[in-house]
Amino acid sequence: MISFFKDSSAGKMERNKIMKQLMLVIQSGQYILGNQVQLFEEEFAKYCGSKFCVGVGNGTDALYLAIRSLNLEKGSEILLPSNSFIATALAIVHNQCIPIPVPILDSTHNIDPAKIKEFIGPKTKAILLTHMYGQLCDMDAIMAMANLEGLWVIEDCAHAHGLNKNGKYAGNYGLVSAFSFYPTKNLGAMGDGGAVLTNSAELAERIKTLRTYGMDENGTIPNTGINSRLDEMQAAILRVRLQNLDKQNKKRKELAKRYFKGIKNPKIQLPQIIDTHVYHLFVVTCQERDSLKNYLLSKGIETKVHYPLPYYLQVNHLPKPKSEYMLHKQLLSLPLYPGLASKNQHEIIQQLNQF
Ligand SMILES: Cc1ncc(COP(=O)(O)O)c(C=O)c1O
Repeated sequence: MISFFKDSSAGKMERNKIMKQLMLVIQSGQYILGNQVQLFEEEFAKYCGSKFCVGVGNGTDALYLAIRSLNLEKGSEILLPSNSFIATALAIVHNQCIPIPVPILDSTHNIDPAKIKEFIGPKTKAILLTHMYGQLCDMDAIMAMANLEGLWVIEDCAHAHGLNKNGKYAGNYGLVSAFSFYPTKNLGAMGDGGAVLTNSAELAERIKTLRTYGMDENGTIPNTGINSRLDEMQAAILRVRLQNLDKQNKKRKELAKRYFKGIKNPKIQLPQIIDTHVYHLFVVTCQERDSLKNYLLSKGIETKVHYPLPYYLQVNHLPKPKSEYMLHKQLLSLPLYPGLASKNQHEIIQQLNQF
C-alpha cells in the first residue's frame, strides 16, 4: 500500500538528533515552558522574520488565541475563505464572533481578493485567511484592501511553514498568525503543537498570558484564558526539524514537479505551477473524483480529500454563504511528503494516467 503520508523524519541522522535532544529534556526534569520552548520560539520567530513567537498546544488554539488577542466585541464578523479546515471557522466561533465565508479562486484555492469588499459590513473587524495547501494568498491585494477598510489580517499558516515570497514569510504579513505543528505538516511535531507569530510586543504578551489560564506574573487572573502550552518535548523535536525545513520543502517541490511532468490524463486537472508554494498538499481536481479515489485505492494508493464538506455546512447556526463552494466535490489530494519513494510516485502517476 502506498500510504497518503509517512512521518517526514529526514532519516536516521535526524532521529538520532531528536533522541539526543529528548534525553536532554528528560535530564533537565523541566517539562513545561522550559528552555526548549523558549529556544524554539526564538528560532522560529527568527526563521520567519517575525519579532515574537508564542508556542501553544496546537494550531486550533493558536488560531483561537490569535483572534482572542484582538479583544473583538462579541458578534464581530470575521471574513474567511469558503474552503478551509473546520478549525479556522471554529476558532472564530469560539471567540463568539461570526465567520463570513468569502468565495475562493478555483485556480489557487485561496480567498479571492476581488470578492472581499462585497462581504464587508459594519460589524466586520478582520480577515482570517488560509494559505491553502501551501500556496501564498495574494497578500499585496489583501493587505491593501484591509488597510483601506481598517480590518485586521490574521493568517492561518497551518499549510505554510517556510512559504515565502522574495524572503517575506507567510505569517509575517498580517498582524498575527497561527501555525499548526500537527505531524503531517511541513514542520511537524511528534504529537500536537502550535504557535502564534506577531510583530506586536503587546499582542505577544497578551497571548502568553492567555495560554496559561490568563494568569499574570503575580499569579492573578485579570482575563480568563485557557491552558495551551507547546510541550517541551515537542519543542525539542521541532528545533531539530526546523533545521531541515528548507531541505524538506525543496523535496516537496521536486515531487510536485514530477507530478506536473508525469500526469497527462485530460480527466485530471493539475494545480497551477507557481513558485510561492510549499506543497503541503498536492491537490488535483477531477469531475469523477470518487471513482478516481476508489480506482487508486483498488491499486493500493491512498488519497485524501481536503475537505469533504465545507465548514459552513458543519458548524451549527452559521449563516449560509451568498454563493456556495462547489469544487469540494472534485478535490483529491495525492500522496506528497519528503520521504515518498520515486518508484511509488512513478506508480501513482502511471495509475493516474491509466484511469
Ligand atoms: C488550515 C488549518 N487550520 C488549522 C488547523 C488546526 O491545527 P491543529 O490540528 O494543530 O489544531 C489545521 C490542521 O490540520 C489546518 O489544516
